[in-house]
Amino acid sequence: MNFRLKERLGKKFDEEIRFFKGWRNNMKAVGSIVPTSGITARRMASVVNPHSGLPVLELGPGTGVITKAILQKGVQPQNLVSVEFSTDFFQHLVKTYPGVDFINGDAFNLDKTLGARSEQTFDSVISAVPLLNFPMHMRVSLIEDLLSRIPVGRPVVQISYGPLSPVVAMPDRYQISHYDFVVRNIPPAQLWVYRKTH
Ligand SMILES: C[S@@+](CC[C@H](N)C(=O)[O-])C[C@H]1O[C@@H](n2cnc3c(N)ncnc32)[C@H](O)[C@@H]1O
Repeated sequence: MNFRLKERLGKKFDEEIRFFKGWRNNMKAVGSIVPTSGITARRMASVVNPHSGLPVLELGPGTGVITKAILQKGVQPQNLVSVEFSTDFFQHLVKTYPGVDFINGDAFNLDKTLGARSEQTFDSVISAVPLLNFPMHMRVSLIEDLLSRIPVGRPVVQISYGPLSPVVAMPDRYQISHYDFVVRNIPPAQLWVYRKTH
């Protein structure tokens, strides 16, 4: 095996170990058993507008696969705010992606979690929080809270693993669209987009 491949596999393995550790420590919070694939991460990051002048909000970065895709899309590290509940993941993220504003806190309580940035308008939201593990009323409030933090028409992208939107339809309050089904993800992933139309 050549050195670069060995190094890459080693890094991937390290990431998965970290993921399993976070998962074992807090099964409800992690939600999936393997880190998101690069393809899924890039699909999710494709909605951000790095030229909007507004920061991007990421929720549940975990091992940082989606964080990396957002940065690769051209978002400057200081324009990315990323909220991770697990302290293990948080500590790893801070070391791996210097300059990103990682916050070790709860996405369901953003006013407190975002602190000084709670009044900030974001360009878009990219979320990997395992919504299916939380009751429906919490999912709906989270989506509405997120939509109140971005301009009308901009997207909240959510990854999920069931066939239906993890958040029920509320046509008078937000619009739901199915963005993609990514087979090259373990398990295959559904991507959903939520927007406010007025
Ligand atoms: C399915 S994993 C995300 C995997 C990530 N995309 C990766 O590839 O490593 C869900 C992540 O959401 C985080 N999480 C769960 N509940 C959260 C909450 N209330 N606030 C912030 N993060 C949360 C978990 O700690 C975990 O890192």
